[in-house]
This record gives sequence, structure tokens and C-alpha cells, in this order.
Amino acid sequence: MLKRFVSLIVTASVLMLMACGCSSESRKTRGSNYLGRDTDFAFLTEETDEPVLDPGKPGKPNKPADLPKKVGISLPTKNLIRWSRDGELMKKELESAGFTVDLQYANNDTSIQESQIASMIASDCRILVIAPIDARSLNKVLNTPKSNEITVISYDRLILDTDAVDYYVSIDNYLIGTLQGLYIVNALDLDNTPGPYNLEIFAGDPGDNNGGFFFNGAMDVLRPYIDSGKLNILSGQKKYDDVTTLEWRTEQAQNRMEALIATYYSDGTTIDAVLCPNDTIALGVVNALQGTYTGKYPVITGADCDIANVKCIMASQQSMSVFKDSSIMAHRAAQMVQEIYDGKTVQVNDTSTYNNGAKTVPAFLVDSVVVDINNYETILIGGGIYTYNDLS
Ligand code: GAL
Repeated sequence: MLKRFVSLIVTASVLMLMACGCSSESRKTRGSNYLGRDTDFAFLTEETDEPVLDPGKPGKPNKPADLPKKVGISLPTKNLIRWSRDGELMKKELESAGFTVDLQYANNDTSIQESQIASMIASDCRILVIAPIDARSLNKVLNTPKSNEITVISYDRLILDTDAVDYYVSIDNYLIGTLQGLYIVNALDLDNTPGPYNLEIFAGDPGDNNGGFFFNGAMDVLRPYIDSGKLNILSGQKKYDDVTTLEWRTEQAQNRMEALIATYYSDGTTIDAVLCPNDTIALGVVNALQGTYTGKYPVITGADCDIANVKCIMASQQSMSVFKDSSIMAHRAAQMVQEIYDGKTVQVNDTSTYNNGAKTVPAFLVDSVVVDINNYETILIGGGIYTYNDLS
């Protein structure tokens, strides 16, 4: 029932997308890997919607006879509820399928992540599930003498510049940005009101490939309104490199927002919308607004549905978040591990979008859904993600 509701919302989002002219044509500005490119980059090929099967990497058989039933899971930080939820779900599912699981969180420190992965490899983990802290920092550790025996699943964030990565499990990250952009268009009713409105833009961590996808998805929706003058960016900061947020950190977003308020909005000038790619950044923006800002409260976007942010949505301090259902994404990664271990073909549904600089990585993308004040109870409480107690 919930699944049907969720897919209705996803369908509704796609319809909204078409209604505002963001057809597959404009989605062609998406790219495979964002880092190191300018804001506009070439479209490769459209993703496919139908699941297809990937037969595994030639020369790296899915199941060597003596493959230990041991999996290493390396995630960025335990401090963010979404990563700890992802980790626990994968661990639980894999352990109940008989795997030994080495689950490590790297405290958002690239060198810790590298040494954790090295020790997983040394202790005979032959399948690794990794969400990189820095997309480009894992080349060395993954290209060990043993790398031909190791199968690597990149989780949520794509590992770049190495052919050691075999599969990718994620969300359509460009679509998340699109949904955030569309939310702003609809909340401000940009197509039916004269404006102009004031917008400020935040982007994610410069070392995370997802950040560029979010940014491009949102900017492809918002750019026409910026170009026509209906949306003004008083700070003038709209280039990706000018608006990134190191490690998606709340404090960093808060500091930047406080500086924007002090410089451009301290006289009560209204900020009508703040584009935030995820919830940790949205939280920083909310914190900053609670300081010296005296104007009308803006529309604020986010993603992840972290508890603190759902509370902000309930308090009308944040407008929306995009829910990336960890249970679906973690389940898919666990299924992939099982398929690899069993030597079965691995299910993917996108074989063309995610080029990591060294190869096009077969991917399985799961759905995401917009959550706001109108549906958070249905999606998050009805879906068993949180209880009312968690949110009080
Ligand atoms: C990104 C991910 C976001 C958010 C962020 C902070 O890679 O796409 O959803 O979780 O990391 O950890």
C-alpha cells in the first residue's frame, strides 16, 4: 500500500517535471561524473528504466571457488543518522544470509577510510561496499595486488578515477536536484506571480560526485528563472565552486549563511528561497536564519530526512526533504553482494549514466520521494522509518 503511494508520488514528481518543461530533453545536461568539470557538461546517454543483468567483470569471476563469505562495508561517518541506518541495515541483512561483516565508519577522514579498507582487504574481505569520503582518494588502496580478486560496490557516492569499482548502487542524484528546484518553483509559484524573488544557493562537498548531480538537477530547473530575472541571487554566488560546502558540514553552511545575511539581508530584505542539496546543509541555514535575520522566512530544500530536519519540517522551518529510502538501497546492495557471491548475474538498471573517469559503472538506481509537511507522517511514520517518539 505504502509502496503504491510512494510510486504515485514519484509518478507525480515526474509529471510535475514534464509540466515545467524539464523533459528528458533538458535532463540531457546531466553527466556521468561531475567533479572537475564546468557547470555545463556533455550528456552521455539516457538511463534505462528496465532492470538489466550484468554478467560480471571479465577476468574477475563473480565466484572464485574459495571466495570467503566475508564482506567489508566502509561508510563515511556514524554521526549522520542516514549512514548509520544504511550500515546497520546492510549488516543485518548480510549476517542473516550467513556473511561475516566488517562494518566501519571513517569519521569523515579520508586517511582513516583508506586504512580501514586496507585492513578489510588484508583480512580476506573479497566483496567491499564503499561510500567514499573523497571520490578520488581510493585509487591506491583499491589497486592492490589482490584487486583482481576483490569486487567493489560503490554505495550512494560513486568512486572516481579507478577501474577497480565494479557496481554502483545509488539514487538518481540528478532527479533529487530536479525535485528540489521544482519545489522552489512551485512554492514561490514562479510561473504565475510577477516576482522578482531572492534566492541563495548551496551545494554539497566538492569531493563528492553526488554534489554536482544535485546542483545540476536543481540549476537546470532554476536557471531560466535566474536568467529572466525572476529569481535574483543578491550575493551573485551561483557557480558551483563558489557555493560548495566542505564535508556537507552544518557549521560550514551556517557560517556562510550568516555571512550572506550580514552582507545582503541585514536590513530586512527578504530571502525567498535557499536551495540546499541535503539536510545537514539545510540545518546550518535554518540555524543561521534563527540569528539576525528579520525578513520573511524562505523556502528551504533538503534531502535525507534526518530526524533534526523532519522536526524542522514539522516546525515550518524547512520546507521539504527528499527521502532516500535506506532500506531499499541497503537491501539492493546486500542483494548484489549475494548475487556476486553466488556467481549469479547482478541486477542493474542503468548501464550508461555513471562513467567514473575510468569506466562506465553498471548501476542500480532506486527511487526517491519528496517529503514535506503534507506527507511526512505517511512516508516516514507509516513507512516505519521513525516513530512519533523519535520526532518529538
Ligand atoms: C551525499 C549524499 C547525501 C548526503 C551527503 C552527506 O553523498 O548523496 O544524501 O547524505 O552525502 O553525507
